[in-house]
Amino acid sequence: EKHYAVIGDPIQHSLSPDMHNAGYQALGVDAFYQRFQVKADRLGEAVQGLHALGFSGWNVTLPHKEAILALLDTLTPQAERAGAVNTVKIHEGQMIGHNTDGDGFVRSVQEELNGFQGKKAVLLGAGGAGKGIALALAEQGMKLHILNRTPEKANELARIIQREGGMATAGEFAPGDWLKDVDLLVQTTSIGLHKEPFPFSLEGISKQALVVDIIFNPMETLFLIEAKQLGCRTQNGLRMLLYQGALAWEFWFGGQAPIEEMRQALKHGLA
Ligand code: ATR
Repeated sequence: EKHYAVIGDPIQHSLSPDMHNAGYQALGVDAFYQRFQVKADRLGEAVQGLHALGFSGWNVTLPHKEAILALLDTLTPQAERAGAVNTVKIHEGQMIGHNTDGDGFVRSVQEELNGFQGKKAVLLGAGGAGKGIALALAEQGMKLHILNRTPEKANELARIIQREGGMATAGEFAPGDWLKDVDLLVQTTSIGLHKEPFPFSLEGISKQALVVDIIFNPMETLFLIEAKQLGCRTQNGLRMLLYQGALAWEFWFGGQAPIEEMRQALKHGLA
């Protein structure tokens, strides 16, 4: 039997064990996935421990995604680029750090958006989550406009994307002309986690826009409720969670993850 895990703090509400174990069951994979709470100051010991205990891989969530970089043997281009790791695989005794968050997000909007090249994405928030998503969308050829409460972080992220040959600008964390012709609007800040209202209105937004909030608890933030009322298609963070998990699965096992069973497990886990 192979062993997988997710480490983070807090971790008790993680749905990753439900999702991955349901996948193992669906395909008859002899593996077991569990969650471990790991305090920030014990990360090094925890990583050594998982390795020593023979775990084949693990997911990494807050607050460890960046701190774990220095503890691993090699990084994939996705982890390198994001400066963060959400998936580790043991390969020939080496710990390989990977990141499936950005590409998981891309997959989660692919169908609804029907192509990325040259379309306009506005990103609200330039924190860790926002960065990974922005880099992946820019790689797909989207034109990005990045807004963050602390403007320096939006500027910095736009510069990184430009340096890599992507298209990105930064602007004020406020409504603006961008609302009129946005194709994809992504809310990546923590506003909404505690049911706070979003600080500005989306009035005037293009009805063609797909509006995503990466939060899934609550299932529908006030931000998404407003977008829906304004006639936009909306999506919460569950699809991103699902696809980052599916890509982690594929990194570990190869082949295709049993996406429908994993989706059902998330739904039940939340109910
Ligand atoms: P994560 O890694 O989950 O993205 P983070 O790096 O702490 O977490 O980033 C949180 C994001 O939410 C940041 O963009 C933060 O804005 P600042 O860079 O200005 O701190 C944003 N955020 C959190 N609370 C906010 C609020 N009340 N209004 C606006 N932005 C907020």
